[in-house]
Amino acid sequence: MSTFAEDMSRGLSAPQKHTSSKYFYDDRGSQLFQAIMEMPEYYLPNCEFEILQEQSPDIVAALDFTEHFNIVELGAGDGLKTYHLLRYLVNAGFDFTYLPVDISSEAMKQLQAKLQRELPDLKIEALVGDYFQILGERLGVESSPNLLLFLGSNIGNYHPAEARDLLQRFHRAIRPGDKLLLGVDLQKNPNIIRRAYNDAAGITRSFNLNLLERMNRELGANFVVEQFDFYCSYNPQNGEVRSYLVSLCAQQVQLGPTGPRIAFGEHELIATELSRKYTYAELEQLAGDCGFRVASHFRDRRGYFTDSLWVRG
Ligand code: AVI
Repeated sequence: MSTFAEDMSRGLSAPQKHTSSKYFYDDRGSQLFQAIMEMPEYYLPNCEFEILQEQSPDIVAALDFTEHFNIVELGAGDGLKTYHLLRYLVNAGFDFTYLPVDISSEAMKQLQAKLQRELPDLKIEALVGDYFQILGERLGVESSPNLLLFLGSNIGNYHPAEARDLLQRFHRAIRPGDKLLLGVDLQKNPNIIRRAYNDAAGITRSFNLNLLERMNRELGANFVVEQFDFYCSYNPQNGEVRSYLVSLCAQQVQLGPTGPRIAFGEHELIATELSRKYTYAELEQLAGDCGFRVASHFRDRRGYFTDSLWVRG
């Protein structure tokens, strides 16, 4: 059985049904996520573009790297977020290498081709695979200091214990002098956050429902997608956006020819995603718990989002 099939079987057989949001991103899901990033309500990418467009010189000055350094971007995807930072560094003549890391070899091929076209002087070494294997193998033999980038509020999709575990593993993988730039969506007027995930055009809804379609396509499951709805809520008291699929009737679904049969009650939920928003105090606490210290915050003009620079504590 594939990992996807196993994870879906396990999550949908649990007393509280859940799926991992990493499975949203098949080809169709990635297209829908691209459409989300272009929605007027989904403010996150614009905030981070603005920060990197306007504050790259300040971010680079705060790194205080005096020799050749590496920028290692975890989950680089299309690399669009980082373009302004890279362009600044190339134009200002810094001696550095960009190491984007992603599990999609296609995304890395496209990113490498695009950046070589647009920034011909950029030294780039695209790496495909698991973050920690690559960090272990590549940074183990590196003598230059490294800046790890984990942008795009990706940390928000990790449950608190998993976020701590991930950041502690980053801490173990890097060396003294290395730094981490973490893109974090901040708590703010809850209406702004609610609208970003309950968009008027229903793209986030399709993004969630695509997971059922993906199970039909890849596992031969027989979800009747029209018999599910999407529900999303933001709790301003703990900063959590929680997304769900809702079974509209009592129904049974076969997860493919050899998979389990899953019974859904009317209105039963599948928890599909956590998108956590942080306060500054929570970030200080998280950094401390993981062996880091917050060196500075680079925030957008509206104060919605921070690219938070962490150093080893
Ligand atoms: C990738 N991640 C940071 C997005 C988020 O905001 O949690 C995924 C997403 N889910 C719904 N809209 C966007």
